[in-house]
Amino acid sequence: MDDRSMVNDNDRASTNDIDDAPVSPSRRTVVRATAVTGVGIAGLGLAACGGSSGSGGSGSASGGGGGGTTVAKADVPVGGGKILGDAKVVVTQPTSGSFKAFSAICTHAGCTVGSVADGEIICPCHGSHFSIKDGSVTSGPAPKPLPAKTVTAEGSSLKVS
Ligand code: FES
Repeated sequence: MDDRSMVNDNDRASTNDIDDAPVSPSRRTVVRATAVTGVGIAGLGLAACGGSSGSGGSGSASGGGGGGTTVAKADVPVGGGKILGDAKVVVTQPTSGSFKAFSAICTHAGCTVGSVADGEIICPCHGSHFSIKDGSVTSGPAPKPLPAKTVTAEGSSLKVS
């Protein structure tokens, strides 16, 4: 009984402190402010992670296409390649008539690769380069090759899965 009345008094006192205390914040207010700050910091952490793992939605890269994606052979230059950003794949043609495909998600930190030039697939985030022949790392911080995809020729198109 006494305890309950004490709790009620404390609650009321705390509430009054918050309402009446623009000058001296109660302990509860300080604790709350700290908690809010903590959440703010955690939120920043999540936002930072979300930035890189957002593009790391690599699961949706293969799953998003359902049955894969297609690209016209004519759109893939010999000695170069084409990045299909929506499908998160890069299709290359190292030599005439020989097509390859790889995940377009950089193995370093999950950025989508940005360009294909001089026989290399280039990630704009930290400068990793990958071979258009086999997806292997030719320079940069990326620790692993770009995972290979399956390319199937269908007339004048290529199906990537
Ligand atoms: S994410 Fe590609 S080099 Fe860092």
